[in-house]
Amino acid sequence: METNAIALTYDDIVILPGYLKRGSESDISTLLCKDRDGHELILKKPFLSAAMDTVTEAKMAIAMAREGGIGVIHVNLSTDEQVKQVKKVKRAENLMISNPIHVNDTTTIKETAELMQKAGFSSIPVLDKDNKILGLAVRPSVRFQEENFEKAITTSMVKNPVIVRLEEVQSEKTSFVDLGKAKRIFANNTQNNTKALLIADENNVLIGMITSKDVENLKTFPFACKDIQGRLRVAAAISTAPHTMERVCLLVEAEVDLLVIDSSQGHSDYVADLISSIKKEFPTMPVVAGNVVTAEGALFLAEAGADIIKVGVGPGAICSTRKISGVGLPQFSAVKEVHAALQRQYPHIAVIADGGIKNTGDIGKAIVAGAKAIMMGNAFAGTDEAPGETIIHEGAKVKVYRGMGSIDAMKNGSGSRYEQDGKTLISHGIVGFVPYKGTVTDIIFQYAGGLRETMKLTGATNLAELKRAKWMQITNAGELESHPHDIKLAHQEPNYGTSK
Ligand code: XMP
Repeated sequence: METNAIALTYDDIVILPGYLKRGSESDISTLLCKDRDGHELILKKPFLSAAMDTVTEAKMAIAMAREGGIGVIHVNLSTDEQVKQVKKVKRAENLMISNPIHVNDTTTIKETAELMQKAGFSSIPVLDKDNKILGLAVRPSVRFQEENFEKAITTSMVKNPVIVRLEEVQSEKTSFVDLGKAKRIFANNTQNNTKALLIADENNVLIGMITSKDVENLKTFPFACKDIQGRLRVAAAISTAPHTMERVCLLVEAEVDLLVIDSSQGHSDYVADLISSIKKEFPTMPVVAGNVVTAEGALFLAEAGADIIKVGVGPGAICSTRKISGVGLPQFSAVKEVHAALQRQYPHIAVIADGGIKNTGDIGKAIVAGAKAIMMGNAFAGTDEAPGETIIHEGAKVKVYRGMGSIDAMKNGSGSRYEQDGKTLISHGIVGFVPYKGTVTDIIFQYAGGLRETMKLTGATNLAELKRAKWMQITNAGELESHPHDIKLAHQEPNYGTSK
C-alpha cells in the first residue's frame, strides 16, 4: 500500500444508489467456507458475534445460530469449560437425539421427576434391561404424584408412545432424519399430546428420539445455521498460548464447526505456526485466522493455510490499540486492501470484517469493501444473551462490555491475544457499559433489515451484487449531513442514535 494513501473508514464513504427492479428480493446469505466434512458452511445472515467474554458464550452462540449467523465462544475459559459450551450449542437442537437419557422399569416416579428437573427434559423413554421400549415418561407422569413417589415409573408412564422405524423418518437425499417427515407423523398422532417420537429397530430396541420442539424450531427459526445433522453450528476462539493444540483436539472432538485464531497480530509466526499445527492434525478443519489489515499480512496467512481471514486492527468500540501503539488501519480501507490482495491469488478465501460497526449502514459498506461476513462485539453486547448481569448505572439499565485487551480481561487469560503473558500487562482495550438492548433477535432484525435497505437502495439482489456497488469518499461536512440535523431528538428510533 502507498504509504501516503488516505485510509478510510465506514463514516468516510457513502454507497451510491442504483436501479431497483420491481419485485426484487434481497438474499443476504453468504458462503464462508466448506466445513470439515466438505459441506458448505453458509450463514443465512452474514453476522458473527465476537469472541469476547462479555459477548459470546453458549447462550449467545445458540441465539446467533438460530437467527442465521454464528457465535464464536471466547477463549477466556478453561479448555473444559469452553468444550462444555461448544457441546451445549451442538446439543441445543437435533434431527434425532441418538442416545436419549432414559430410565428403566425399576426407576421410581420420584427419581424420574428429579431427572426431568435436572436434565430439563419433558420426555424420557422407559426401557427394559435389553433397551427395549416399555413406554414414555412425560411431565404428567410425575406431576402431582407425591403420594405415589416410591412407585415405579411404569405405573404412570404413557404405555403406547408413538414408535417409528428409522426408515420412516429418513431423508431420501441424506441418510439423516428429515424433520418434515417427522412433522407429518406428529400431525397424525395428536393423542396424548405427544411431544416425542421414539425410533426403534425391528426388535423394539430404542435407537433415538425426535422431539416436537426440534420440529417446531424449523418454523420458529427458518434461517438457522445448522450442520448436516441438524445441529446448530458454533465457532470457538483459540489463542497462540502454549498447549493450544490440546484445546484444539478437544474442541474438534466436541465437533466445533469453525476454529477462530484470536490474535491482535495475525501477521506473525505465532499464528502461522498454529495454523500449520492444526492443518497437520486436522487437514479439513476450517480455520479463521487474523487479525490483519495489510495485503502482506493477508497473503502470509493464506500461504500458512488459513481458510478465512479476519480483518481489523483497532476499529472496535472498546479498542485502544491504535492509540497506545499508533498501529492499525481504518476499517473500510483495511477490508478493501485485504480483499483485493486475496482476490488475485486466493479468491476462495472469505474475509470477515471484525469490529467498528456503529450503524446498520456500515454492514453494507463492509460488504462493498469485500467482506463476506461481519463480526460484531458492541452490537451484541448488552443483550439478554450476552454474559453478565444487567445493572443500573446512573438510572439506566446497562451491561458491562470490555475489550479482551483490557487489563481486567487479560488477567482472565486473554493476554496471549496480544502476545502478553507477563504479570505487567500493557492494556489494549477499555472496560465500559453499554445500554441494555433486549434480545439478540431484535438486534439482528435491525442489522439484517438495514442491510436489506442498502440492497434496495443499490438495486442489489444478493451480496455479490452489492459488492459491485459504487461508492465515494465524503467530506466531514458530508458525514455530518448524513445524520439527522437541526432538530432535537423526541425519542429514540430502534436503529439510530444509540451509539456515541
Ligand atoms: P466492536 O466495534 O464490534 O469490535 O465492538 C469488536 C472487536 O474488537 C476487537 N477487540 C479488541 N481490540 N482491544 C482491541 O484493540 C481490545 O481490548 C479488544 N477486544 C476486542 C475484536 O476483534 C472484536 O471482535
